[in-house]
Amino acid sequence: MDYLKIQGIDSLNGTIQISGAKNASLPLIAMTILAKNKVSLKNLPHVADINTLLKLLSNLGAVCTTDETSTIIDTSTLNQTKATYDIVKTMRASILVLGPILARFGHCEVSLPGGCAIGQRPIDLHLKALEHMGAKIDIKSGYVQATAPNGLKGCEIIFDKITVTGTANIVMAAALADGATTITNAAREPEVVQLCEVLNNSGVTIEGIGTAVITVHGTNGKLINIDEFSIIPDRIEAGTYLCAGAITNSELTLKNVNAKHLGAVLSKLEEMGNKFTITPDTITIHPTANLKPVKIITQEYPAFPTDMQAQFLALATQAHGVSIIEERLFENRFMHVSELQRMGADITLNGHVATVNGKNELSGTDVMATDLRASSALVLAALVADGETDIHRIYHLDRGYDSLEKKLQAVGATIQRLKE
Ligand code: EPZ
Repeated sequence: MDYLKIQGIDSLNGTIQISGAKNASLPLIAMTILAKNKVSLKNLPHVADINTLLKLLSNLGAVCTTDETSTIIDTSTLNQTKATYDIVKTMRASILVLGPILARFGHCEVSLPGGCAIGQRPIDLHLKALEHMGAKIDIKSGYVQATAPNGLKGCEIIFDKITVTGTANIVMAAALADGATTITNAAREPEVVQLCEVLNNSGVTIEGIGTAVITVHGTNGKLINIDEFSIIPDRIEAGTYLCAGAITNSELTLKNVNAKHLGAVLSKLEEMGNKFTITPDTITIHPTANLKPVKIITQEYPAFPTDMQAQFLALATQAHGVSIIEERLFENRFMHVSELQRMGADITLNGHVATVNGKNELSGTDVMATDLRASSALVLAALVADGETDIHRIYHLDRGYDSLEKKLQAVGATIQRLKE
């Protein structure tokens, strides 16, 4: 297994190219199941989760070919409708094939994803919505068995909770349904918006894109023609590198980034004393040497994203004063806290609220990554810790960050990827 060796107290300088968004890529790859043509996707990030989903599609009979600029997915050869446990267990977002496969073939079996490190992560809202559209859902020996022999029917769906992949799944199922489906309490994340925009450009009329009420006018089973498109920039990768600039008091410029997707993150970084120069596709951080403490509550987009909570918790250890960070979406998303405490962070946890008593002198040591975003928090802490930090189990990091150590090396970090 690989690990990262990071030498702390580094200042950084230069430009980082942001990759395509992992959480936009996953639904857009699943969406190709609705296509009758070969679909070309540009700017897919080189991360493990994308490879996992492409492998799943190949296992189902699709043909995925990747060259240096794009990935072409041909689902005309799909001949399987069962997503097996061996793949789904490694990536819960595999559940995103359920809606499109059921819509196209009228039946689908997907292994229950099981919980994950950050929480139980149920899929009850996905399944209830599909039943509402006319599907019959059974749970048998760890699999969701879904059938819709007469196809899916458009209807009114009201989500009890805002669910990102749940919204994506139902939008894709509704794309081939008979009639219109209105989704109320829909997720508004930019990744869901891009899925809707691509479908809308492919002949599936969708109203209310980017709002909490989306109406999808289905094609009644007709497959669609999807023109080539490019994945939007990864706002969480971008936010992570902005935190790298802030925590090391370094001026960094991010390229291929959409500041409009980072409103809540930029505003919290400004509250902490940082300033920014923004153009349509770049963000430059002008950091403060005296970070102010911050209060954060994670909520659905456009509010502060849960996927940036761990990074800000690491950043808060370098602020002068008391920061309060509340995690409202997941029940167990503070596993980075104990590792940060081992580096010298003064953090107390009380239920879903972390209180950081900064500023803390951090010292390098061996730490263990536990989940994707926790891993990036440990990288940030290691950049300012005194001495050397070895971060183990970075397969978590590789799920969602494209070439992280190369991007940080290029702006002056002393970071190496080594073998255990
Ligand atoms: C997506 O996960 C993202 N993953 C997550 O990013 C992100 O943290 C999350 O949205 C919240 O923004 C992808 O897009 C692939 P949810 P998702 O359904 O869709 C509850 C990362 O780091 N819920 O919006 O699985 C659920 O338990 C990952 O890139 C139900 O109760 O999240 C949670 O409390 C981590 N029943 C809340 O809703 C359901 O059927 C939000 O979950 C579905 C969800």
